[in-house]
Amino acid sequence: MYVCVCKAVTDSQIKNAINEGVQSRRELFKCLGVGGDCGKCNPHVKELLDCHQQSLMQKPANPSILAA
Ligand code: FES
Repeated sequence: MYVCVCKAVTDSQIKNAINEGVQSRRELFKCLGVGGDCGKCNPHVKELLDCHQQSLMQKPANPSILAA
Protein backbone atom coordinates (compact mmCIF):
# COMPACT_ATOMS: atom_id res chain seq x y z
CA MET A 1 0.00 0.00 0.00
CA TYR A 2 1.28 3.44 -0.86
CA VAL A 3 2.01 5.55 2.19
CA CYS A 4 3.65 8.47 0.42
CA VAL A 5 1.85 9.18 -2.83
CA CYS A 6 4.16 12.07 -3.76
CA LYS A 7 7.22 9.80 -3.80
CA ALA A 8 5.41 6.51 -4.52
CA VAL A 9 6.74 4.88 -1.34
CA THR A 10 4.97 1.82 0.08
CA ASP A 11 4.64 0.58 3.64
CA SER A 12 6.80 -2.43 2.69
CA GLN A 13 9.63 -0.16 1.59
CA ILE A 14 9.41 1.75 4.87
CA LYS A 15 9.36 -1.47 6.93
CA ASN A 16 12.35 -2.83 5.02
CA ALA A 17 14.26 0.39 5.66
CA ILE A 18 13.46 0.18 9.39
CA ASN A 19 14.59 -3.47 9.42
CA GLU A 20 17.86 -2.32 7.88
CA GLY A 21 18.43 0.20 10.65
CA VAL A 22 16.61 3.39 9.74
CA GLN A 23 15.42 4.93 13.00
CA SER A 24 13.81 8.28 12.22
CA ARG A 25 11.64 10.14 9.73
CA ARG A 26 14.67 12.21 8.79
CA GLU A 27 16.55 9.05 7.82
CA LEU A 28 13.51 7.76 5.93
CA PHE A 29 13.41 11.03 4.04
CA LYS A 30 17.09 10.71 3.17
CA CYS A 31 16.86 7.15 1.89
CA LEU A 32 13.34 7.08 0.36
CA GLY A 33 12.35 10.72 -0.01
CA VAL A 34 9.21 10.06 2.01
CA GLY A 35 7.49 13.09 3.54
CA GLY A 36 9.48 15.70 1.69
CA ASP A 37 6.78 17.14 -0.54
CA CYS A 38 3.27 17.77 0.77
CA GLY A 39 3.93 16.13 4.15
CA LYS A 40 0.49 14.50 4.39
CA CYS A 41 2.09 11.10 4.87
CA ASN A 42 4.15 12.14 7.90
CA PRO A 43 1.64 11.00 10.57
CA HIS A 44 1.36 7.58 8.93
CA VAL A 45 5.13 7.33 8.50
CA LYS A 46 5.62 8.14 12.19
CA GLU A 47 3.01 5.55 13.15
CA LEU A 48 4.75 2.90 11.02
CA LEU A 49 8.10 3.84 12.49
CA ASP A 50 6.83 3.64 16.08
CA CYS A 51 4.89 0.38 15.61
CA HIS A 52 7.57 -1.42 13.64
CA GLN A 53 10.36 -0.39 16.01
CA GLN A 54 8.29 -1.61 18.97
CA SER A 55 7.71 -4.97 17.29
CA LEU A 56 11.43 -5.30 16.56
CA MET A 57 12.25 -4.68 20.24
CA GLN A 58 9.70 -7.29 21.36
CA LYS A 59 10.98 -10.10 19.16
CA PRO A 60 12.36 -12.98 21.22
CA ALA A 61 16.06 -13.61 21.03
CA ASN A 62 17.25 -16.17 18.51
CA PRO A 63 17.64 -19.38 20.59
CA SER A 64 20.51 -20.64 18.39
CA ILE A 65 22.54 -17.58 19.39
CA LEU A 66 21.87 -18.21 23.07
CA ALA A 67 22.94 -21.88 22.81
CA ALA A 68 26.47 -20.98 21.68
S1 FES B 1 2.33 12.04 0.47
FE1 FES B 1 4.33 11.98 1.26
S2 FES B 1 5.12 13.94 0.81
FE2 FES B 1 3.16 13.96 -0.05
